[in-house]
Amino acid sequence: CGIVGSINHHNIVPDLLEGLNQIEYRGYDSAGIAVIGEHGLTTIKRPGKLKQLETYLSTTPLSGHAGIGHTRWATHGIPNEANAHPHSNDQVSVVHNGIIENYLQLRQWLTAEGFTFNSETDTEVIPHLITLFLARGLPPTQALHEALNHLDGAFALGVLFKNDKDHLYAARRGSPLVLGKGLQGLSLGSDTMALSSSVKEILYLEEGEQACLGRDVFTLFDPKGKPISREMQPFDQEREDNGKDDHQFFMHKEIHQQVATTRDTFHHTQHCLLDIPLDFEQFQRLTIVACGTSYYAAMVAKYWFEQIAKVPVDIDVASEFRYREPLLSKNGLALFISQSGETADTLAALRYAKANDQTILSIVNVAGSTIARESNISLQTQAGPEIGVASTKAFTAQLAILAKLAIHTAHYRKVIDVKEVKHLLNEMNALPGLIDITLGIEDQIKVLGASIKDAKHAFFIGRGINYPLAMEGALKLKEISYMHAEGFGAGELKHGPIALIEPGTPVFVIAPDDSLLEKTLSNAEEVAARGARCIIIGNQASIRNLPEGMEHLILPPCDNRLSPILYAVALQLIAYHAALALGTDVDQPRNLAKSVTVE
Ligand code: G6P
Repeated sequence: CGIVGSINHHNIVPDLLEGLNQIEYRGYDSAGIAVIGEHGLTTIKRPGKLKQLETYLSTTPLSGHAGIGHTRWATHGIPNEANAHPHSNDQVSVVHNGIIENYLQLRQWLTAEGFTFNSETDTEVIPHLITLFLARGLPPTQALHEALNHLDGAFALGVLFKNDKDHLYAARRGSPLVLGKGLQGLSLGSDTMALSSSVKEILYLEEGEQACLGRDVFTLFDPKGKPISREMQPFDQEREDNGKDDHQFFMHKEIHQQVATTRDTFHHTQHCLLDIPLDFEQFQRLTIVACGTSYYAAMVAKYWFEQIAKVPVDIDVASEFRYREPLLSKNGLALFISQSGETADTLAALRYAKANDQTILSIVNVAGSTIARESNISLQTQAGPEIGVASTKAFTAQLAILAKLAIHTAHYRKVIDVKEVKHLLNEMNALPGLIDITLGIEDQIKVLGASIKDAKHAFFIGRGINYPLAMEGALKLKEISYMHAEGFGAGELKHGPIALIEPGTPVFVIAPDDSLLEKTLSNAEEVAARGARCIIIGNQASIRNLPEGMEHLILPPCDNRLSPILYAVALQLIAYHAALALGTDVDQPRNLAKSVTVE
């Protein structure tokens, strides 16, 4: 979920909508705003995408000088109008990112106190709790502070009081929140993207802090409620052109940008690695943690670090990491990968590793994001803003950094000779050109993608470094086409999943001409023997001896260690064209958010 807030000398409704547009990546189930204007405190919310709210406001104008807004990814309660934020009663309005864990107890207590609830959310207890303390005679700042003392869980809040027209309130515990100052007033956001483009100074709230914003000045309170002072930092945010150009969807534009984004990321990383203060000879074990597509980048990286740099690697999905109480080596290195840099699971895992004396390295696509700020060292993928919810160019850019990092580590640890380093770097430099060639066969991939649209299931298989890529290929297809898809290590298929194969079930076999090719093709034959429609994704050399009846897609040859970067592009196009044929909302698929900011 995403939060915006603004208090200003002019009408803040356009600022709120601009901010919500920028942070719709945090959720798009419903959106709403609350403003204080001539007619008091007004709350407007709409289920569905932000566009629904914008359309309503274009015919029913609303204005005010202080306001809060929210874009939701549902946690408690379905995405309808009642469950949308802001949650308001006749005194207080609240937007919330996070989860209130003790909301059921609070709800019982507040119901007994005479409050009525209109939603199924955990959030609605907050405005009522604050109102309870207002009714007990506390002024807004103290009423908010007292309410916070009763909340368990993680949250970032924006709060408006009907009877305090000249202020906007904010509080954070666990979930990030940033204040911004521009020429015309102050604003508030889940991250800097939410802030108005006129903001020139920012301040991140620290854990447990609370703030009261006026039009020109703000007051900061420590977790005990004592006023404190801290300077704002200069801030300059350049918003890049986010148009679709001639593409039907952002995802398509982003797939095509990969020639440039992988090249830019290779070059940028080469440069950064010269400066980063990390002793690559010293660390003996690496822990990598991430979610979703970024996790599959971590899986690929495990092969690179172990095979090229000879460093043992542990990988975890972020939501499991800290709960399994991992045995982290003393002063080890932990790497967190996140496109947005805001994913709550990954952030929580990072904080756990930090508390356990790990050096924190991160790879993010958004400079200044929370994960970047909380790391000891952060490397940035040069993918530019990724708007499509299904990650494409950020994934290949993550792989570009990870490959470079593994080669660099191997070099420092002297486990690779200089000639081999040169060869791998040359191969990496050639990859953008090979991606371009792959994009050149899109017409063929389009026919292939569209041809699976009526399938009940689709499977992706691969061995070795192509096993994680099989999982990523399946994830892409699920995310945007809603088709059931799974990725497996090709050898594992026979141990159960093969039961799902029916006549005509598409099975994509990732099969470059590596040392495992024959075994991979045997696994393809096993499913073909049970009626599967096998599509071999390989190169000229690997499809030379294909069994009768198997289809193929031929990609240009490249070093097999780096092939996931190239093959990912073909898998993205297959998923894209399947989704296009099915007519789904490719850029904002149902039920998802680009970055999930609750645990
Ligand atoms: C969400 C998205 C996924 C994404 C994952 C991790 O679940 O729907 O597509 O891979 O978050 O996001 P991150 O920004 O941390 O890479």
